[in-house]
Amino acid sequence: MAAAAAACRLLRLAPRRLRKPRHSLFPTPLALSSAWRRYCAAAPPVAAAATPTGDAVGEFRRRIRVAEVKGGEDQGAAWVGKELTVRGWVRTCRAQRTVTFVEVNDGSCLSNMQCVLTPETEGYDQIDSINTGASVLVDGVVASSQGGKQKVELKVSKIIVIGESDPTSFPIQKKRASREFLRTVAHLRPRTNTFGAVARVRNALAYATHKFFQDSGFIWVSSPIITASDCEGAGEQFYVTTLLSNSAEGGCLVNSIPSKDGRVDWSQDFFCKPAFLTVSGQLNGETYASALSDIYTFGPTFRAENSNTSRHLAEFWMIEPELAFADLNDDMACASAYLQYVVKYILENCKEDMVFFDTWVEKGIIDRLNNVAEKNFVQMSYSDAIKLLIGSNKKFEFPVKWGLDLQSEHERYITEVAFGGSPVIIRDYPKEIKAFYMRQNDDGKTVAAMDLLVPRVGELIGGSQREERLDYLEGRLDESNLNKDSYWWYLDLRRYGSVPHAGFGLGFERLVQFATGIDNIRDAIPFPRVPGSAEF
Ligand code: 4AD
Ligand code: MG
Repeated sequence: MAAAAAACRLLRLAPRRLRKPRHSLFPTPLALSSAWRRYCAAAPPVAAAATPTGDAVGEFRRRIRVAEVKGGEDQGAAWVGKELTVRGWVRTCRAQRTVTFVEVNDGSCLSNMQCVLTPETEGYDQIDSINTGASVLVDGVVASSQGGKQKVELKVSKIIVIGESDPTSFPIQKKRASREFLRTVAHLRPRTNTFGAVARVRNALAYATHKFFQDSGFIWVSSPIITASDCEGAGEQFYVTTLLSNSAEGGCLVNSIPSKDGRVDWSQDFFCKPAFLTVSGQLNGETYASALSDIYTFGPTFRAENSNTSRHLAEFWMIEPELAFADLNDDMACASAYLQYVVKYILENCKEDMVFFDTWVEKGIIDRLNNVAEKNFVQMSYSDAIKLLIGSNKKFEFPVKWGLDLQSEHERYITEVAFGGSPVIIRDYPKEIKAFYMRQNDDGKTVAAMDLLVPRVGELIGGSQREERLDYLEGRLDESNLNKDSYWWYLDLRRYGSVPHAGFGLGFERLVQFATGIDNIRDAIPFPRVPGSAEF
């Protein structure tokens, strides 16, 4: 409380310095101090000209986590005899006649720390509270373990139960729960082996993504989440509006929504025009690539497509690099190198979790990923892919014909059967089935697009060389019935210093699926958003 009051006092000194604002962008001192008073009502009046003093902020110290103890080559042998404090959640508690074994997991790795308690242990009287799910702090000394499962364990001198967990209602019990059930307790599922491992591998993939692009000279750009343009032109956008926030009892009244000629009057909305959650950061990414050369975005994107499949989310994360002075070949090379880099990274840095996936989720995934990391990717044209599918004589549910988009079953046939599990890039798609911004090929029928397909997931990456010629781009906007005026700034890039450029988008959750073997995309993101479900 004292620290909070001191902080508020500190804040309240600031208006004094702003008493003579240099320009009108600064709120008046009066406005500032009255706003602050609202949040700091309990603060005493400011003593004139007092120099505030405060308590020093403590030093940040990195805590030792179980992964650091057990994760090395020696599995913790070098720690024997050393003192250690473990903070984590109880996975199991097994009481034997003279000793009790408590498995504690702190989330840093798959392995638990086996903590050995005896009646002499301080806190032993709390033994009835040491249930699955409880949080504990355990002090002890690392010792060689007699059991075959681990090299070391913790001989506990003191245990404190920090937060109890009622064993009769805690939903995650030792027996294996189905992934469907775990989706209904998404707030607790990170405490399972599978979801802990997915979270760590997802984190490693994100880190490796930044590392790959940063090391390759790309600059990370934050593209906006709210946008007025539809990048993919597919009309799969969520509206962002305050027109519905008129908080009448029981919700917004339909007839209170402003309208004009029977339609919603967007001019009265927050942005004075329709606005949406972005489906892709690409168009904004292109503006920065047209100044900084090579950039990438990495952020959330949203699609209101009503696809209840194992590969679609309404909210997903996308990585979108954009390369200036580059064509489709450069784009494909970048996509392949990036994918191989992140795959190698997790094979080298997430060994324990990858062995877990190999054993429990998808047998052989390590070999499969090793192949991906090592072998060159192949590429073929869309026209050749159609010939291949027709020539396969396989019965597909969806028709195969030049001009129609490839469906998931076709993509999976190409990678899983025709190319025996290797990623394949399909390029030069018919222009009618691709977005307006893709560069037209000289044949007048196809565009310089590429999709990278991988086994089990299908399309992991979608990209293209962009149309850098103003007249062609305007023609494509017209053909696609898109309003040229609202793309004025995008067209400007073609008016001022246009360059050949190319980029792609990788769906991050599909990458997590590919890298972990997890079947359903809803298990590759902490809190999935899908049609009919936005719980948690
Ligand atoms: O192929 P898409 O629609 O391409 C774009 O959005 C381009 N603007 C990207 C670019 O060139 N900068 O989407 C790119 C990737 C897909 O290949 C897929 O991996 C993923 O985003 N994706 C989805 N992932 C999960 N749920 C969905 N509903 C997805 N839609 C696309
Ligand atoms: Mg696509």
